[in-house]
Amino acid sequence: MKKAQMVIESSVREGGTDPIFRIAGEAAKRTRECGSEAVINSTIGALMDDNGNLVTFKAVYDTLKALPNHLIAGYAGLAGQPDFLEKIIEACFMTCKPEGYIRSIATPGGTGAVRHAFYNYTEFGDTILLTDWYWAPYKTIAHENRREVKTFPMYNEKGTFNLEAYKESVLELLEKQKRVLTVLNTPAHNPTGYTISDDEWKAIVAFITETAKDQPDSKIIILVDLAYIDFAGEGEDARNFMKILGGMPHNVLTLYAFSTSKSYTMYGLRNGAIICVAPTEDIAQEFVNTCTYSNRGSWSNGTRGAMETITKIFSNEELHAQAMAEQSFYKCILRRRAAAFVEEARKIDLPLVTYCDGFFISIPCDHPKEASDKLMEKNTFVVALGKGLRFAPCAVSEEKCRRAPDLILEAIKETETCS
Ligand SMILES: Cc1ncc(COP(=O)(O)O)c(C=O)c1O
Repeated sequence: MKKAQMVIESSVREGGTDPIFRIAGEAAKRTRECGSEAVINSTIGALMDDNGNLVTFKAVYDTLKALPNHLIAGYAGLAGQPDFLEKIIEACFMTCKPEGYIRSIATPGGTGAVRHAFYNYTEFGDTILLTDWYWAPYKTIAHENRREVKTFPMYNEKGTFNLEAYKESVLELLEKQKRVLTVLNTPAHNPTGYTISDDEWKAIVAFITETAKDQPDSKIIILVDLAYIDFAGEGEDARNFMKILGGMPHNVLTLYAFSTSKSYTMYGLRNGAIICVAPTEDIAQEFVNTCTYSNRGSWSNGTRGAMETITKIFSNEELHAQAMAEQSFYKCILRRRAAAFVEEARKIDLPLVTYCDGFFISIPCDHPKEASDKLMEKNTFVVALGKGLRFAPCAVSEEKCRRAPDLILEAIKETETCS
């Protein structure tokens, strides 16, 4: 790491280290040179159609573009527009509202919600608990806010949620900090596509409840990152777990990071919310005061036009049905692509960590960076992570999803023979 010149020591950062943006640039260049047919670009974390164009929901963009200028240009309230704050709770829970005091504060995407959770529910220097396969920006957000991260192995030997490792890490951090914030990105986890099952949630909740009762002076915060929820399960299945996570002891707080980026193809509109399910009204009011203050102190307020768009969609049955139909249409396409990839991977014994749903599939391997470099030579762009490669069926046609496993296996084998 370079020495600080003008910035403070803890703010010295290396430039150009984001692995996704670096490889995405190279993929775009190769597509321009060789044409899109010749390139498998699985670097993008957004839903793309089979021609490589960004999917945008008509219900969303017709609504946004029909808004009068003042509803786009005006400032939003610091906490978010009041009607949006109601509708986003509906968008988050649908018919699966848990027991507790539910409040929401608008944030710029799920990222803003993660930031507020980290900043307000852990002490400076505290360690936040993540799964060992994780969305890299969690670490960036933690470091930006002078927190650390620790990971636990997400999978057990059966390839399901590693409850024992989770328990051990929670207890260890509680012993040290008397407070723990754990992030569970489910359903359809990034980068693996794993979904914590309802039975696994029951076991997590039983453990958290027992621990909270045993340690009444401790504080346990569960942050559920829902970035991919609308591309998981059938109907509202993926939301069943929310009801399990209700009626918690007074020293447990559940927070949800809800994002309209993927669910409503609103990535660049920077819209979402942090939502609490608090065990008491006081804790809920504290959440509202604190997160509103955090909005003012970090980005002031959110994107008004995006809030108005969501409010309109959730206030008009026909529009809502149209948005849901678009979501479900693309969910089916994503499912078909992912199924094609998994099927081909199985045929050739390409190992995958358990995938359930969502934008990404992960392939564990020992030399991810080298394997990703080898794949680039074959016009195939797959993101290298710490523990493997991340393939993105959200961004690649079904035909390319079928072709990719073979190329990936070959690249992994080449890196094994080199080492
Ligand atoms: C796991 C996860 N959480 C949260 C987000 C937040 O996205 P946004 O800030 O666009 O809502 C993303 C986006 O890629 C993600 O993958």
